[in-house]
Amino acid sequence: MRRPRLPLSFPRTSIRRQISAVVNGRPKFLEIFGEQYPTDSITNITPAIIAKLPLRLHTRPSHPLDTLRTLVESHYSDFAHLSSLSPLVSPFKNFDELSFPQDHPGRAATDSYYVNKDLMLRTHTSAHEVEVFRRGEDKWLLTADVYRRDEIDGSHYPIFHQMEGARIFSADASGMKEVEEDNERLRHRLGQANILIEDVPHISPSNPNQPTHDPLYSELVAQNLKLSLNSLMLTLFGGPGIGGATAAAPLRVRWIEAYFPFTSPSFEVEVFFRGKWLEILGSGVVRQATLDTANVPNKIGWAFGLGLERIAMILYSIPDIRLFWSTDERFLSQFTDKEITTFQPYSKYPSCFKDVSFWTPQNVTLHENDFCDVVRDVAGDLVEDVKKANDFVHPKTNRTSLCFRINYRSMDRSLSNEEANEIQLQVVSRLQEQFGVEIR
Ligand code: PHE
Repeated sequence: MRRPRLPLSFPRTSIRRQISAVVNGRPKFLEIFGEQYPTDSITNITPAIIAKLPLRLHTRPSHPLDTLRTLVESHYSDFAHLSSLSPLVSPFKNFDELSFPQDHPGRAATDSYYVNKDLMLRTHTSAHEVEVFRRGEDKWLLTADVYRRDEIDGSHYPIFHQMEGARIFSADASGMKEVEEDNERLRHRLGQANILIEDVPHISPSNPNQPTHDPLYSELVAQNLKLSLNSLMLTLFGGPGIGGATAAAPLRVRWIEAYFPFTSPSFEVEVFFRGKWLEILGSGVVRQATLDTANVPNKIGWAFGLGLERIAMILYSIPDIRLFWSTDERFLSQFTDKEITTFQPYSKYPSCFKDVSFWTPQNVTLHENDFCDVVRDVAGDLVEDVKKANDFVHPKTNRTSLCFRINYRSMDRSLSNEEANEIQLQVVSRLQEQFGVEIR
């Protein structure tokens, strides 16, 4: 079973603690958006990633990600809409400012892309919470490209898009009156809709309100968060023809207790769609520390973050996450601005499997994400998935042997065996150069 893309909340297991092999021969500087940045021993951002930084798919008219962004924005029409913040942020902004502990696994170079120790690619849109609250925005939506190192398959790509939404109120009687009025309005809308909600308590011992919050305020705000997001789910999935709600089968939404360092209580939302529960977003009552840092200490409110690719894949029936990056007219010309339509696959070209087996040098642990970044860098979007086929330690020499199976398949054309061999040779020589592996 593949590991799903985990939200930043989950402590990840043992492989996270492995040391990533040091990359040999890295350049002294990297040029990103026309600026030169010095590299250091933590640098792991690859040319394949740098090349995609300017593309900003969520702002390309008629692209499914742009249409989905506009749909969410029109649902939250009275919120400020932001979508042009740079993906380069400090680790402080991505993690510390949001109360991530020092040893949180998300900080590891195996999981995140670093330009150098002081600059990284944001791993989530929450990285901008403090700055947007500090600007004085009370209700806002922010759409952006986010970056996480990961394995390779049809639903994981190192760049994806998130939307962060937040709303804060005055933490006093007048603010709570505003919350109650909004809750009433939302309850009314939901009461008339064909939606079935499985809820969990707004606050519980395992999902507590924050000590500085009046429990009543926290309860009202959590309720507003849930009503607001249930209403968004109705906008996204409740429409006829999309496979969501029908007269016979209501849209099913379920709330699950969660944990994030920067919210409490925290929740995840799942939607039942074509026979499966799909995780749609993470959310919660914003930690007071975030609002204090943003210089709005007298406010209380909520935030959520949702992944656009996963929702677009469902709504448009797009089968492979690489398609979002396709420049093929047979993909792009299918879509009309601000309209959700079903994707018509134009062809599925044959796969070409190639194995590579090697010994890693003594004292070097090659993380699967390191391997995948080499493959992505060489093969680009010609790689469909990578699976670890084998992994053992030689009982006598104590050396580690790894075997990966790479599935090369183009989305746009037939890939010849010679071409796949050529790519495979380059992958092999990069593994030897960068990690000193010994091919078996
Ligand atoms: N940033 C979180 C993630 O990427 C989602 C989230 C956003 C959770 C806002 C709570 C509040 O997993």
